[in-house]
Amino acid sequence: MKIAVVGTGYVGLVSGTCFAETGNHVICVDNNEEKVDKLTNGRLTIYEPGLELLFHRNTKEGRLTFTTNLEEAVRESEIIFLALPTPPGEDGSADLSYVLGVAEELGHIIRDYKVIVDKSTVPVGTAEKVTAAIAKHAKVDFDVVSNPEFLREGVAVDDFMKPDRVVIGTSSERAKKVMHRLYEPFVRQGNPVYFMDERSAEMTKYAANSYLATRITFMNEIANLCEKLGANVDMVRIGMGSDSRIGKRFLFPGVGYGGSCFPKDVQALAKTARENDYDFRLLHSVMDVNDQQKFVLANKIKRHYGENLSGKTVAIWGLAFKPNTDDIREAPAIYIIEELLKAGAKVRAYDPEATENMQKIFGDQVDFVDHRYDALKDADCLAIITEWSIFRTPDFEYMGELMKEKVIFDGRNLYHLEDMKASGFFYNSIGRNE
Ligand code: UGA
Repeated sequence: MKIAVVGTGYVGLVSGTCFAETGNHVICVDNNEEKVDKLTNGRLTIYEPGLELLFHRNTKEGRLTFTTNLEEAVRESEIIFLALPTPPGEDGSADLSYVLGVAEELGHIIRDYKVIVDKSTVPVGTAEKVTAAIAKHAKVDFDVVSNPEFLREGVAVDDFMKPDRVVIGTSSERAKKVMHRLYEPFVRQGNPVYFMDERSAEMTKYAANSYLATRITFMNEIANLCEKLGANVDMVRIGMGSDSRIGKRFLFPGVGYGGSCFPKDVQALAKTARENDYDFRLLHSVMDVNDQQKFVLANKIKRHYGENLSGKTVAIWGLAFKPNTDDIREAPAIYIIEELLKAGAKVRAYDPEATENMQKIFGDQVDFVDHRYDALKDADCLAIITEWSIFRTPDFEYMGELMKEKVIFDGRNLYHLEDMKASGFFYNSIGRNE
């Protein structure tokens, strides 16, 4: 099939590359010339494990190309994916100007039947708005389909190639057939493709992300309470998660959820609710609790040393909002570092991928190092913020030699309490007493 993907951000690039991998011809469109040049010259613009291999294979074989020319890409394609940004406006609602702007252009461009697919996370009712924007100028038949993506950064290629489910919102039988043919190779193992109306598909995406954010937040509160009650949240998590109604995944407490999706989507759903005369109180609590949770680690450090941290050096392991990405959007590390600097601490930080991005925020206020152990030299304590695998089995003896004091504040519960006791470190983690 011939596909155009408009927007070569994270979702567009992963989707385009994966669609090419199953033999489709994909033209990715972006109005950023520099980006298109880079991609045309074989250089990826995002960090995502596993993407490079597929990207090079499909560009080499001519199935994946890049252009700034929307008209050319659209004319040649039967399906047009919109993978455009929907940033939160000042009031928290999703800004649809990019999506609707392109939709109007499409109305001028299309000369024969096209399936136009919303891939971006868009508020309920957007498919209707996109349809109206295209219809203003279009003289031919077209269908607008809502097909939300459920990719997780860091495992996006796997999520795309082997999705738990595919959700497709359309009321058109013609579009249904096209979408079914497109996704067939991705659900060979029998995972479902759910067809539903457009509004339900749009809502599914917000409901899924908001539920997952709520689940994490619930566990963060359970962890905070475990600390007060002398219970161990790891045990509680296992005990709870074995109930098949609850499930084991996505129950890990930490320093709050971050990233480009959960914070934005929870806020947008709360906003949508308010606009429709419904006060979604649960989501407001989720946002409040998560804002607080981002400060838990910094507060623990201040409780240990006192409010004034001048003269103290805090080593940080992990800056990205989660492992296997260089993404720092809404990363808890930003809030923790700000708080430590405000209290007068010196901060020395290491991350395998996200250093460059964090440098853009903190410049030389933070000492960024290239190796994990370099962060520890003469540090008063270590704060672990992101659970990169490289941090899971460190040489505690060597760490003890490097550090001024053997103190670890672990925001991701990486180590066993017994091991830490034996190592002689003061060890404070989330929802587990030292
Ligand atoms: C999330 C969803 O998981 C995807 O299904 C969705 O497609 C995507 O948003 C999106 O809307 O584009 P992502 O933001 O990449 O994916 O990251 P997650 O792996 O879901 O993690 C989100 C945050 O929750 C991270 O800050 C992570 O550290 C935190 N988290 C996750 C926990 O604190 N505990 C957990 O048990 C799991």
